[in-house]
This record gives sequence, structure tokens and C-alpha cells, in this order.
Amino acid sequence: MTDQAALLSSPLARGPGALPRQRQLIQRLKQAILAGQLPAGGKLPASRVLADELDISRNTVLIAYEQLTAEGYVIADRQGTRVAPLSATAASAAKQAARQAAEPPPPPEAPAFRTATRLSRIVSTRAPNDGSLPLTPGTPALTQFPINAWRRAQDRALQAAPAATLGYGPPVGEPALREAIAQYLRVSRGVRCDASRIVITEGAQGALALCVQLLTNPGDTAWLEEPGYRGAKSAFHAGDLNVVAMRVDADGVAIRDEDWRTRPPRLIQTTPTHQYPTGAVLSLARRLDLLERARRAGAWIIEDDYDSEFRHQGEPIAAMQGLLPDAPVLYVGTFSKTMFPALRLGFLVLPQAIAEPAMPSISEMLRGGHRLEQLTMAAFIDNGQFSRHLGRMRRLYRDRQAALREALAQHLGVDHEVLGGHSGLHLTVRLPPDIPDRAIVEQARQLGMNPNALSSFAITPQPQDNGLVIGYGNTSADRFPALVRQLGRLAVTLRR
Ligand SMILES: Cc1ncc(COP(=O)(O)O)c(C=O)c1O
Repeated sequence: MTDQAALLSSPLARGPGALPRQRQLIQRLKQAILAGQLPAGGKLPASRVLADELDISRNTVLIAYEQLTAEGYVIADRQGTRVAPLSATAASAAKQAARQAAEPPPPPEAPAFRTATRLSRIVSTRAPNDGSLPLTPGTPALTQFPINAWRRAQDRALQAAPAATLGYGPPVGEPALREAIAQYLRVSRGVRCDASRIVITEGAQGALALCVQLLTNPGDTAWLEEPGYRGAKSAFHAGDLNVVAMRVDADGVAIRDEDWRTRPPRLIQTTPTHQYPTGAVLSLARRLDLLERARRAGAWIIEDDYDSEFRHQGEPIAAMQGLLPDAPVLYVGTFSKTMFPALRLGFLVLPQAIAEPAMPSISEMLRGGHRLEQLTMAAFIDNGQFSRHLGRMRRLYRDRQAALREALAQHLGVDHEVLGGHSGLHLTVRLPPDIPDRAIVEQARQLGMNPNALSSFAITPQPQDNGLVIGYGNTSADRFPALVRQLGRLAVTLRR
């Protein structure tokens, strides 16, 4: 008996536990075609003949043949049902697939695929834990979020537009949210904008990625604050940019004349209101200089205004974007700190010069989504719940920061300098160079807390980049004395 005859006449399994016969027949024919036992162009038996051979109904055979036709294994025409022809490459791939189905190979020893080289530049420094551990920088007070008010607002949004919230939304975001954000930014942050220039993004990270996509080609130079925000660094590396670190001092990012001459940028990342992580405020002189030089150089500034709502001392500092009309600034904001990170809502305010030509392309690149959250967020802003929540959080964070400062002064027990601290959700504590910050952080994680190492925010860490970035947003004030005492003990033990 030939291979083919055996294949088509050996009985199908029956009884409890056996697959339906139609499914068995389809699988058997597919295997045979892939393995070349039924060669390309060869005719399959007439349905009646095969039904008799296998002792199944003709209908079962017909349905199996129809399925194989739909999947392109066979071709049915007036002369009968024939195995579809395959190219030489497809035939060899098919044989391999059939062999592997019969006998799966052992897992490959080396990675089978080469990843994009830019991936190797995106190095993870994230702790393998969740951000809710005490002292995690950047996490807001999760337990203080008005979850019931949010749920009610979400229910109302769903009831008001049940069908709309389920469909594809406008790619650049819900008009109601863009309008609410525009109004909020004009009043609270001094940003010059209207809703038509706002794009809703997947957090600030989505906005950073969009800036890279809109404004750069691979190999372009992007300036990044040093030490600086790791999310921006990843976004730049993902765009294959030439990332150049710009040192930060007590007045924010310090750019020298020769930087403009020798490595002119296409993009400049900055956190002018509250430098991340050092907490410096970019001085007015440097803001004006940066704006003017960027304009002359044809560069674009990305102003990441991630946590300026929480100012604890002095008057609010207005956004750099609003300093000049038509400033070459893409303003990035997020609700990750003011609301909660899992919301993943951020926004980008485009300069007029970019908004007009780029909006049609952006509308093709994005898909919108998260409509219910966007509509709820718009209502939250419009009905005043957002500003009430901000007011409560501002007071809470001011108290938590004061308690952390007190605990550092009382219990750290090693020389240190507290940087910044006029706003936000974290304090940065500079340590003497003989106390290795990364070792402290590693051991602190074993003790269940998650401060970050200042040096991990720098591309080329300098001695002054040694220290701890300590979040107080999501840690209650009464825990600071004990936690800081533990950090102090680690610092003393690990001192070289
Ligand atoms: C400087 C800076 N920008 C932006 C963000 C927020 O990013 P996202 O909106 O993607 O959560 C953070 C959060 O830690 C940040 O530190």
C-alpha cells in the first residue's frame, strides 16, 4: 500500500475522547499536504470514495474539503479537488513545519532572532517590584485617591454616551478633554494654547515618543538633561537618536556656547519647573536663552511639566512654553501624578507651526481609545473635582515632605545635602562619594523600600551624582523615621 493509500484508508479514531471525525480528517489531510505525502497538483479522492473508505458520511468529507479550500491547501474546480501548488521556499518551509509538528525540536540555545541594535541601548534600571513600595519616587498617594467619586463620574460618562464610549474615538483625543485641558493649562500653567493643538497620549511617555516620531530622523542629535529622566532617554534611543547628555546644576540645565556650535540638537528635553531628579528650577535667564538659541538653531524644546501642580513654597512657576509667543516648545503633561499612573493619560501641546502641518499625519498614526477614561477626566476637570483633589494632595504632599526632611535631619546619620524640594513628590539627597548609592538601593529593596540611586539617572555619573531619590508621595508620614533610620544604617555599613 502506498503512503497515500495508507493515509486515506486507515480508520479515523472513534469513541469517547476522540476528536470529531471532520476535525481529524482535516488535520490528517493538512499534515499529509505539508509533508509532501500528497504532492502539489495531485488529486484528492472523490468525496464519495473517501467517505466509503473511511466509513464516514460524504457530508463530513465535503465540509473538510471546503475548509481546506478556504485555507488554500487545495483547489477545487470542475476536474475535482487538487493539492495547491507551492513555491520551492514554501514547500521546504511546509516540510519543516510538518517535521516539527511530528517531533518538536529542542529549544534553541542561542537567541534565534537578532533584535534592533537600539534595543541594547535601552537598559532597564527598574526594580523587579511594583511602584507601591515605600519611598518609590514618582508614585502619588494611591490610597488617597477619591476612587468612589471617580467611579461615579465614570458611570455617568458611560450612561451619557454608552455607544460612543465603545467605538473608535477621535485619534487625537476626546474634544471635551482637549478643551478642558486647554482651559486648565491657560489658567494654571500659563500655557498658550487652544484645544486644536492638543493631542491626548498614552501618558507623558506617549507624548515623548510622538515628539520623536514627528520631529526626528534616526541619527539626529537630542539633548537630554544629566542627570535626567530615564523615560526620555528610552524614547530617544527608540528613535535611534544620538543622545547627548547636558549637565544640570542648581539653575537647571547648563548649556554652553560650544554645545550649540559643536553638537547642535534637533530636540532638547527639559523639565524646567522641577528638574527630574535634582529638583532645580531652570532660571529665567536660561529659559530665555534656550528659547532664543533653539529658535535660531531650528531645534525643538520638549518641556516636560510632569509634577508642577504640587508647589510647596512660593508662587507657582509658569511654564516655559508661555514665555514667548510662538515659542519653539512642545509642552508635555501627564495625569500620572495628579490622578494616578494607571490612568495612562498624558497630553502634548504642539506649537502652531507644527500643529497645522502635522495634525493630518498624527490622526493617521494614532487610534485614540480610552474614551470612557477621557470623558470621565473631562468631567472631573469641568465640575471642579480635579482642582479639589489637587488642593487636598498639595497639602498632603507638603506635610509628607516636611516629615521626610525632618526624618532625614534626625535619623540619616551621615552627611548629606537635600536638593530642590520646593515642589513635587520626591526629594533628592546627595551623599558623600564614599557611600555607594546603588549598593544602598539594592539592599534597601531587600528591606521592602524603593528609593532610587541618583547615579542611575546619569549616562556618565559624576561624583556629585551620588545619592538617593526618595519619593514621599505614596508613603505615610509616620513611616519616615523608621525607614530613614534603616537607610542611614545601610549607608554607614556600606561606606567604603
Ligand atoms: C520627568 C517625568 N516625566 C514624566 C513622567 C510621567 O510619565 P507618564 O505620564 O508616562 O507616566 C514622570 C514619572 O515618573 C517623570 O518623572
